[in-house]
Amino acid sequence: MLDLGAGGKKLAGKESFRVKQLANDSETCQPTGSWCHSKVNSVTISRRLIGRFQAHRLATTSKRLDICAAQFAFVLHAAGIRSIKGWRCLEVGSGWVLTHSVIMYLLGASAILGTDLEPLAHPESLRSAIHASVKSVVRDILAPYEDHSQLRTRLDNLISTRRFSFRTLAKLGINYVAPFDPTTHQLPGEYDFVYSNAVLEHVPAEDLRPLLQNLVASVAPGGIMIHCIHLEDHHDIERAPLAFLAADARHFGRGVQASRGNRVRSSGWRRIFASLTGVQSRIIYEWHRKDVALPPRVDPSIAYTDEEDLRASHIGVVIEKSR
Ligand SMILES: C[S@@+](CC[C@H](N)C(=O)[O-])C[C@H]1O[C@@H](n2cnc3c(N)ncnc32)[C@H](O)[C@@H]1O
Repeated sequence: MLDLGAGGKKLAGKESFRVKQLANDSETCQPTGSWCHSKVNSVTISRRLIGRFQAHRLATTSKRLDICAAQFAFVLHAAGIRSIKGWRCLEVGSGWVLTHSVIMYLLGASAILGTDLEPLAHPESLRSAIHASVKSVVRDILAPYEDHSQLRTRLDNLISTRRFSFRTLAKLGINYVAPFDPTTHQLPGEYDFVYSNAVLEHVPAEDLRPLLQNLVASVAPGGIMIHCIHLEDHHDIERAPLAFLAADARHFGRGVQASRGNRVRSSGWRRIFASLTGVQSRIIYEWHRKDVALPPRVDPSIAYTDEEDLRASHIGVVIEKSR
């Protein structure tokens, strides 16, 4: 492994190959003679099965190709990006269904790398994500960003793919590396576009700056990052999405932050983005929950400016590296 000093560690080629293999290997758990190993194996197998179920559920709901196409097109529009054709793309925290990476393929990206803290991806779920979608809607939504006939050819290619695996995806230019921790490691190579959706709010607050600075190091000169961040309590989005702001910091450690959200408010995100070196950032959208109650008292560990800051529920940021 190459140690790059202050900025973090860079994954060497061999290591990134090993983690790619790991994602594949976990599907084929080999039985061993020892009780301990078979227990570990059964835990791994049941996690994999739960993950497969989760992937299938998401593939037919929020990770459907048409739904993610609309979301991605909105973000490109808000950021003022007209095309990602020929770009080298990186998706951070791509989750169970690699739909956003597939959209980058549809839009003509030259190479796409999906990464995640854990090997969650189930490539076979992409078939449901594609076939549960209205194909003409995918083409129409993405049309402002790529030649229509090229979109059609690539979409037809996806539709005719009977089984998606990591190998099938690699043929489309989509590779996957997991486990990969962007807080402690930098990826080799440079990317023109780095994207994350619903990821940064799961990162413990103290890790955000090092993680983002590591990602900045992977952005090519003139390249761009977009992060879409969801600021509500992920355990109670519908009923009381802001009540978690009252919880004592002692009960909001790294594990709770990873699962419910790190509670960084809009002003906190802006401060972190402004502190990154070598880049300029701008917020491209910010929405607020004005329909729900704020807790009577906010935990003193949470930095905020005013009520509007506390009520921010979603923000999107563009971070650009100059040439
Ligand atoms: C809510 S899921 C979103 C997945 C996907 N981006 C999507 O839009 O469906 C959160 C993702 O963030 C990843 N994640 C959580 N903490 C992370 C960290 N510290 N570094 C990188 N990824 C992380 C998780 O593994 C998971 O894939």
